[in-house]
Amino acid sequence: MLDIVILAAGKGTRMRSNKPKVLHPIAGKPFVSHVIDRSREINADNINVIVGFGAEQVYEELDGQGLNFVEQKEQLGTGHAVQQALPFIREDASVLILYGDVPLIESDTLRQLLSVVSETSMGLLTVTLANPLGYGRIVRNRIGSIEAIVEQKDASKEQLEINEINTGVMALKGKHLIKWLPQLSNNNAQGEYYLTDIIEMAVADGIEVRAAHPHHEAEVMGVNNRKQQADLERIYQARIAEKMMADGVSIIDPRRFDLRGSLTTGHDCLIDINCVFEGVVILGNNVTVGPNCVIRDSVIASNTIIKANSIIEGSKVSDGCVVGPFARLRPGTELLENVNVGNFVETKNSTIGKNTKANHLSYIGDSKVGEGVNFGAGCITCNYDGAEKHQTNIGDDVFIGSNSALVAPLTIAKGATIGAGSVITKTVEEGQLAINRARQENHDNWDRPRKK
Ligand code: UD1
Ligand code: CA
Repeated sequence: MLDIVILAAGKGTRMRSNKPKVLHPIAGKPFVSHVIDRSREINADNINVIVGFGAEQVYEELDGQGLNFVEQKEQLGTGHAVQQALPFIREDASVLILYGDVPLIESDTLRQLLSVVSETSMGLLTVTLANPLGYGRIVRNRIGSIEAIVEQKDASKEQLEINEINTGVMALKGKHLIKWLPQLSNNNAQGEYYLTDIIEMAVADGIEVRAAHPHHEAEVMGVNNRKQQADLERIYQARIAEKMMADGVSIIDPRRFDLRGSLTTGHDCLIDINCVFEGVVILGNNVTVGPNCVIRDSVIASNTIIKANSIIEGSKVSDGCVVGPFARLRPGTELLENVNVGNFVETKNSTIGKNTKANHLSYIGDSKVGEGVNFGAGCITCNYDGAEKHQTNIGDDVFIGSNSALVAPLTIAKGATIGAGSVITKTVEEGQLAINRARQENHDNWDRPRKK
């Protein structure tokens, strides 16, 4: 049994934001959601989120996730914050205290911390810092046992020399927390109820305080301002990039790689600089993504090349396609095998058949396009009449001359040819040539107007 308390009541003044601090994102996801995800990974079934500043916004953002929100109306200290959750703490559970603004904590570290919790011991996550300024210091006795945590503002000169600090994260039995929390006082330099005072109570009750340590310092770094947010973002991204490279993905510059969601890759994929992956993205084998691409909620099958500056969203791209540069695939696009979609081509809600090419400056929307179709430069499916959207059906081996407007609803049957510059409004039957433009007139010896 595991009860979690996540402290998330603070305003985060230094963020200079109207939004509560914990709702600001790392990798596109609120800080507090990272902490909640880690809590789920260690199978917490009772997650209590202490909210205060901007509580309404927090409820709204985290609605429907089975969390227990507890309001701390006034922020009277970390101990006071945890006290608010006491009615929801179970005696026999292990309780883990986490922070909504410490987003990079890892579940392995939490498991390790929880492993030292028993009827006769509790766990405290500590790190040793070259510069411990501002943190609570871990006071140990002569044989090295933890005796207390002293806050910066309450510390003696000697205590300020201690480099081992309190990360704030701790784990203990519910019954111990239930016993100690009501005994906190605010008789200290900041007039706050310090959660850290329970350490001395533990020692007094003969409960051993055992330290655990994070694998990386960044795991316990809190965010207080936007600079720190950006720093943690880069640390987070660097870690993902490293893991992906270890798994065999080439990332040209891991400092310019951004994943805001999940990215699954086959073997020998290459990701050039400045790409952003959002939502759920799956790449097959040998997929190359050129520089400056944004890919969201899409599947890109093997041997496909996405060239520079392409934007792909809610799309499925099959084997062997070439997309871009400067292509935009909007939701509902499905490219079948070996399709080429080139520069300044936009697609939406359309299926495009094998070997079809639309290489330049076209819009294909609400369409079903067959195999081997050729779109000349500047072809537009006119899918919208100002009120409704309409469908375009284009058969196999159709050739559409440049700068043609295809006014939907429209069917162009197999093998038909559309003359360049046409506005096509009526069905074109199989094998027909349709051409709809003013005939060319040539005038001999034309006397061009001249300037007087
Ligand atoms: C706390 C610890 C300190 C530790 C440091 C690590 C105490 C007394 N001190 O100090 O030993 O080194 O964290 O960063 O615990 N919060 C609430 N309600 C409150 C007060 C705080 O929700 O009434 C939340 C804050 O939003 C913040 C977190 O708890 O996310 C920590 O509070 P903060 O005031 O920053 O504690 P520190 O003084 O940094
Ligand atoms: Ca702090």
